[in-house]
Amino acid sequence: MKIGVLGSGDVAKTLASGFLKHGHQVTVGSRTPEKLADWAKANPAGATGTFAEAAAFGELIVLAVKGPVAGEVLRLAGANNLAGKTVGDACNPIADAPPDHGVLQFFTTHHDSLMEQLQRAFPDAHLVKVFNSVGTISMVNPEFPDGRPTMFICGNDAGAKKQVEGILDQFGWETADMGDVVAARAIEPLCILWCLPGYLRNEWTHAFKLLKR
Ligand SMILES: NC(=O)c1ccc[n+]([C@@H]2O[C@H](COP(=O)([O-])OP(=O)(O)OC[C@H]3O[C@@H](n4cnc5c(N)ncnc54)[C@H](OP(=O)(O)O)[C@@H]3O)[C@@H](O)[C@H]2O)c1
Repeated sequence: MKIGVLGSGDVAKTLASGFLKHGHQVTVGSRTPEKLADWAKANPAGATGTFAEAAAFGELIVLAVKGPVAGEVLRLAGANNLAGKTVGDACNPIADAPPDHGVLQFFTTHHDSLMEQLQRAFPDAHLVKVFNSVGTISMVNPEFPDGRPTMFICGNDAGAKKQVEGILDQFGWETADMGDVVAARAIEPLCILWCLPGYLRNEWTHAFKLLKR
């Protein structure tokens, strides 16, 4: 597939390299594509460009930018470049305030998540929450002694979630579909839980697994 990755941070670069590893075509976008020069050098099969160029290129889009500016980045990407496409949303609504006893502070409430805000602002895009509650070290084909970890996803469009599930399968994850966009109120805070061992004990290599019977 052609993938447009929006972002120049560690998450965007890690996922973009993962897509290349699995044979996809990738354009990574930034306001200043020059800052992706090192990534481009290390990943000669990938391309870089503006947010709009990456979004126009992608059949599937991945959004991996600072939570407070996620809406602005989608605006720069262009609503027309997102319409009808799956947008994997890895963003978390982390506020500027520091963690409180290791607990990250959010700028959203329990009644309205970041992804709901984005979905309302871009109704023609098919947003799917994914990759928000694991560190970059474990995003692409992580190896754990107990097998594949679980990625919790949600979104309104069944076809978009199937596409994301296919990517997750390639990236070595099992998928747990938690329902429509409202479930982002539960999935986004998983990032707070995931970060706690990091802030408390400098442990950053774990991932969640859902046990079933
Ligand atoms: N780090 C992790 O391990 C991790 C794990 C899971 C999820 N997440 C979430 O994934 C997202 C990306 O995290 P990250 O650490 O890779 O990167 P980040 O530092 O949170 O975000 C960097 C991106 O934000 C964009 N940005 C910053 N200010 C902006 C502004 N005023 N206007 C437009 N764009 C702006 C930058 O755009 P330019 O390229 O134009 O500078 C850049 O692409 C975050 O929401 C984070 O919570 C992070």
